Amino acid sequence: MESDFQRDFRGTCLIVGADGLVGSALRSLFADSGIAVTLTSRRPCAGTVHLDLRDPNLGGLAGAHHDVAFVCAAVTDMRTCQEDPDGSRLVNVTNTLGVLRGLAKRGTRSVFLSSSQVFDGETAEPDEDAPTCPKNEYGAQKVAVERAIREEGLPVAVLRVTKVMADRPVGVFQGWFEALLQGKPVHPATNMALSPVMVSDVAEAAARLGFARRVGIWHLGSRDAIGYDEAARLMAELQDLPEALVQGQALTEEQVPAIYRHRHVTLSCRKLGRELAMPVRQARDVLHQLFSAFGRPVAARLT
Ligand SMILES: NC(=O)c1ccc[n+]([C@@H]2O[C@H](COP(=O)([O-])OP(=O)(O)OC[C@H]3O[C@@H](n4cnc5c(N)ncnc54)[C@H](OP(=O)(O)O)[C@@H]3O)[C@@H](O)[C@H]2O)c1
Repeated sequence: MESDFQRDFRGTCLIVGADGLVGSALRSLFADSGIAVTLTSRRPCAGTVHLDLRDPNLGGLAGAHHDVAFVCAAVTDMRTCQEDPDGSRLVNVTNTLGVLRGLAKRGTRSVFLSSSQVFDGETAEPDEDAPTCPKNEYGAQKVAVERAIREEGLPVAVLRVTKVMADRPVGVFQGWFEALLQGKPVHPATNMALSPVMVSDVAEAAARLGFARRVGIWHLGSRDAIGYDEAARLMAELQDLPEALVQGQALTEEQVPAIYRHRHVTLSCRKLGRELAMPVRQARDVLHQLFSAFGRPVAARLT
C-alpha cells in the first residue's frame, strides 16, 4: 500500500545493494509507485548499475541525479566479519563511507542501514542517544560508520534495525516447520531471544526517513522480545502442528558464542513512532504475520 510519504515524494532514488533482503524490499515498495529508482548490484544483472564495495566506483552513476540513496550493501554475516576483519572492514567501513561521501558531494542524501549490534545487549531498550558498546567486529564496523557520519556532518539518516524477517519464513523457521510437519522434534534455543521486524516495515521506515530528509540515528525493531523456543511454540500453535515436538534446549558457547548473543534484544523505537508515525509491532504479531505465509498445514500434510 502506498504511504503518504511515497505519494508526496517527487524525487529520484538509488538503492545500493538492490538484490539483498532490504534492498529487494525497497524495490518492491517503489514498484509501480512512479518513483524513478536506480539499482546497483555487484552481480552482472540487467537493469542494474555495477557497484562492488570492494572496489567502488560511482562512475556508473555519472549523469544521473538521485535525491535519496538507500545504502543496503554490506558484508552482513557476523562470523565472516569476525573471521576477516580487514576484508569486511574495507567493504563495511572504508568503502561504504567512500560511497556515502561521494553521494553527498553529488547532492544525494542517504539512509544507511545499521544494527542493534552496536550495543552489547546488557541494557534494556537503549534509545538512539545511548552509548554504543559493540561486542563483535560487525557491530564495531557499524559504529565506525555511524561515528564518521556524525563527525563529518554527512547528510545521512542511520536506521538501526534488530532482526529482519523476510516476507516468507526462511532459515531456522523453515527448518522447524519442515521438521514438525514430518513429526520430528525441534530444539529451539531457550537462552536466546529475538526482536523481529518485517522487512517491509524496514523498507517503509527507510523510505520515510529518506523522503522526509532526516538525519541522525533512528531505531526500528519490535516492541518486545520473544524467545526462540516461544517462537517455535507459536509456529506449532498457528500451524496446528504438535507443540510437544518443540523441545527447547540451551545453546552452548560453541554453537553461538556470547559475542553474538544479547541478553536484551529490543531497541527503544519510540522516536520513529513519534516523529514519522511508524508503527512498532509486538513480536508475536510480527511472527504471526510471518508464519501465516506457510499456508495451511493440514493441506500441506495431505499432499
Ligand atoms: N537482516 C538483518 O537482520 C539485519 C539486521 C541489522 C542490520 N542489517 C543491515 O541492513 C543492511 C541490509 O541487510 P540485508 O539483510 O538486506 O543483507 P543481505 O540480504 O545479506 O544483503 C546484503 C547485500 O549486500 C551485497 N554485498 C555484499 N558484499 C558486497 C560488495 N562487496 N559490494 C556490493 N554489494 C555487496 C550483497 O550482494 P550479494 O547478494 O551479491 O552477496 C547483498 O545484495 C546491511 O547493512 C545489514 O548490515 C540487517
